[in-house]
Amino acid sequence: MKVNGTPFRTIWPTADAVEIIDQTRLPHMFATLRLNTMRDAERAIRDMQVRGAPLIGVTAAYGVALAMRDDASDAALADACSVLLAARPTAVNLRWGVEKMRALLAPLPESERATAAWQEAARIADEDVAINAAIGKHGSEIVRAIHQHKNATVNILTHCNAGWLATVDWGTALAPIYAAFDAGIPLHVWVDETRPRNQGASLTAWELGQHGVPHTVIVDNAGGHLMQHGMVDMAIVGCDRVTACGDVCNKIGTYLKALAAHDNGVPFYVALPTPTIDWTLQDGVKEIPIEERAEEEVTHIAGLCDDGQVRTVQVTPRGSRAANYGFDVTPARLVTGLITERGVVAADAGAMRTLK
Ligand code: MRU
Repeated sequence: MKVNGTPFRTIWPTADAVEIIDQTRLPHMFATLRLNTMRDAERAIRDMQVRGAPLIGVTAAYGVALAMRDDASDAALADACSVLLAARPTAVNLRWGVEKMRALLAPLPESERATAAWQEAARIADEDVAINAAIGKHGSEIVRAIHQHKNATVNILTHCNAGWLATVDWGTALAPIYAAFDAGIPLHVWVDETRPRNQGASLTAWELGQHGVPHTVIVDNAGGHLMQHGMVDMAIVGCDRVTACGDVCNKIGTYLKALAAHDNGVPFYVALPTPTIDWTLQDGVKEIPIEERAEEEVTHIAGLCDDGQVRTVQVTPRGSRAANYGFDVTPARLVTGLITERGVVAADAGAMRTLK
């Protein structure tokens, strides 16, 4: 996608390193960052300079490639895989990316590993772009159908950031929105701010603005009210892990939006690349590990001050404890459909088996 008119991906290889868009600087500054080592890749994932399930997986793959460039021994491969796997717990794409690299590299002689790793990471990145373009195509048909029925602007609610910044390009939940917008379908996006890290307010709003898509940022608590008043035609969110039965794990607060959508008859779609399906799990609430992050992400907030500086301020009383659960699980029964690169399927075990 374009940043100030220049095409960018979120991650790309250079001669001897990897570069990323540093998402912790957005929306107030667009900055890129060089990852020189596997440890740099691990830190970028942990500190959320890159984030979003598909992009985490691709960054981990490049992390393995960086490790192999420096030392292609069995021990270095095992170490890189275990360090990267521990960076964040919830998005299954991280495990998917690392295990794909391990499976390819482990049987190869050491002398071939560095080149093969670099090629495989690039292939995984390109595959992500193609997958997301296909998600966009399938999802935009749903938007088109709603527009044909309504014959007026389609209002779409989304949560967190599942746009191109969360992938290598295009995004998952936002891919149908970009495809529909580019096809001339009139639409407007309600952007949940997504506390505590505000990925909606800072990242989704920024990328929609860069593409010229009409949007409005709302506080996380507003969605139910908008749905009660007929102001939301559909919701589309991304996800970090889907179980074999269709339970969906996504950014904290997604479940509450799904409940409100169900109560108001608003279609609730989840967009995902099939590598986000964890075929080993059935019950998402019981089985998916939920990341807990630092209290400071809740007690403090950063923003642009009138003097042009970005500063962090405390919003809670000193001494109040905070809990910071990163994700929640939406049961399959609340999901209208899963938008994948292979088409739209019901969120149930039978329909999902066709994706295996
Ligand atoms: O904590 P984050 O910002 O990595 O969480 C991201 C999300 O919850 C996204 O909705 C999800 O990863 C899907 S990204 C296409």
